[in-house]
Amino acid sequence: MIAGASPPVIEMIGMVFVVLFLFIGQQEIISGRMERAQFFAFLFFLFRSYDPMRKLSRLQNSMEQALAAAHHVLEVMDEHAEIKEKPDAKDLSPLKSNIELRNVSFGYANEERSVLRDINLIIRAGTMVALVGESGGGKSTLTKLLPRFHDPTSGAVFFDGLDLREASLSSLRKQIALVTQETVLFNDTVRHNIAYGKPAATDAEIEEAARIAFAHDFIREMPKGYDTIVGERGIFLSGGQRQRLAIARAILVNAPVLILDEATSALDAESEQFVQRAINNLVRDRTTIVIAHRLSTVRRADVIVVMEAGRILETGTHSELLSSGGRYKKLYELQFADEEEELAGIAGKS
Ligand SMILES: Nc1ncnc2c1ncn2[C@@H]1O[C@H](COP(=O)(O)OP(=O)(O)OP(=O)(O)O)[C@@H](O)[C@H]1O
Ligand SMILES: [Mg+2]
Repeated sequence: MIAGASPPVIEMIGMVFVVLFLFIGQQEIISGRMERAQFFAFLFFLFRSYDPMRKLSRLQNSMEQALAAAHHVLEVMDEHAEIKEKPDAKDLSPLKSNIELRNVSFGYANEERSVLRDINLIIRAGTMVALVGESGGGKSTLTKLLPRFHDPTSGAVFFDGLDLREASLSSLRKQIALVTQETVLFNDTVRHNIAYGKPAATDAEIEEAARIAFAHDFIREMPKGYDTIVGERGIFLSGGQRQRLAIARAILVNAPVLILDEATSALDAESEQFVQRAINNLVRDRTTIVIAHRLSTVRRADVIVVMEAGRILETGTHSELLSSGGRYKKLYELQFADEEEELAGIAGKS
């Protein structure tokens, strides 16, 4: 509010001063204490100083906004401040064998309640593991333990047999690319947004990543191509386009482990198709942990993990879990069966 009101107020004050100086000048000239030329020189410099002053008041506004933004960044950093790297931490090499969660329980620092309880899960390198289950079941929380945004309250996460707490944070996080529902895009060029995780990338590498992510064509159609500025939070892009930029970003860093939080919101059919193809390119040859909201994804997964209230209820493939008739079958009937009908409908027509 104050920021919005202050430039007009400053302009008002400026006007009052100008009128005041004109009046004083007139008196001084009449009384012979000042020459006309002096007065005009004075007026000239007064007007010249007006614009810089106005800019100064604007600068203060941008400073306030920058401070607010910095405050937000610090808040986010604080959230992960509990994580400390050991002095003799080891660098991880690219995942070879598996990631293992062993007897993992976890509760957020500000709450007593456990969000994850006694989780045992092995994610084999090169496979796709899909997490499904009711909202609030702990799926996103589980994925946050892998890049060590949080540490388990008890139990441990192992990366090729090494406890994550023994590993250097930079070598761990270099291994993992995140594609989430809320991709953060910066008010910068498309090129810089894609190269976010690899600032030294060449233009050719950036373009290659965009092609694989099915983003190259829509980028080229933008007013300045790769040099188009993306609006704040990607506001000038559609949901599907933002996701494809996020996928291009992940392809460029080429991390062996991918965490994918599938969008729940529906995209239009064409956009959906492009996003699906981009994701297919992304998951190839990678170890993928996907929070799945789509039938096509869970059907393709090597292992489906059904979570409820912080526990793993069942694990298996789509057909194994359907025939065992447990929680997954109910979930499937509630959440995915409509989609199956649609798919069958399309297949029937063609
Ligand atoms: N930062 C946080 N601080 C405290 N509690 C949290 C935090 N994030 C999530 N929770 C709680 O942890 C529980 C599990 O949340 P989580 O986001 O892991 O669920 P989810 O399975 O991903 O749900 P959804 O399908 O809706 O995304 C919820 O009860 C949620 O309220
Ligand atoms: Mg979630």
